[in-house]
Amino acid sequence: MTLVHVIERVTRAFRLPPLSQPVMLLALAFLVTACSDDSQERRRSLGDAPSFGDFMRVADAGRGARLFGQCAACHTVRMGAGDRNGPGLYDVVGKPVASRSRRFGYTGALRSAGGVWTPERLNAWLAAPAKFAPGTSMSFRGVPDPLDRADIVAYMQAQSVEAGGAEALSSRP
Ligand code: HEC
Repeated sequence: MTLVHVIERVTRAFRLPPLSQPVMLLALAFLVTACSDDSQERRRSLGDAPSFGDFMRVADAGRGARLFGQCAACHTVRMGAGDRNGPGLYDVVGKPVASRSRRFGYTGALRSAGGVWTPERLNAWLAAPAKFAPGTSMSFRGVPDPLDRADIVAYMQAQSVEAGGAEALSSRP
């Protein structure tokens, strides 16, 4: 018996108007999506003053994939997918800053930041790009929520050579 049949039975048994069927389906769909996001639970599990490491320990790359939607206007993250307004980000975690794309014209602001994209530095960059590299061309105000940032970093980590690259997750922008 399918879900639709169950709902039909319930509406008949309780003599509910036929319109309540789509409404019930919608409510169910909403419940399912709400329950599949356990971010509130993860936040609670971390206690009062979680560090970035704590956030990374509970990070969810699958949710990060959805949150990456806000980056996808400017970035791809698949192997060989190329640049948009921003450089392609495949395999960016652990790599030198301003090096992922050979064709992209990085600003001096970002290049002079130097070093490698550790998860910690990506966290700082994503919190406030203009603070991390004043003068950067990444015109994006940042991701204010630390758990959101950890999830996005975990997602980018999964999009890497070590993680199996293109096969790591199916729902990528
Ligand atoms: C409006 C366009 C835009 C959006 C939205 C945007 N970026 Fe960027 N991003 C850029 C540009 C442009 C650069 C290059 C900055 C520079 O050279 O100063 C960049 C650079 C980066 C880099 C450095 C890449 C390297 O090779 O060193 C990372 C990592 C990055 N962005 C991640 C993100 C993530 C994650 C998001 C979403 C949370 C995001 N960006 C949202 C435009 C954008």
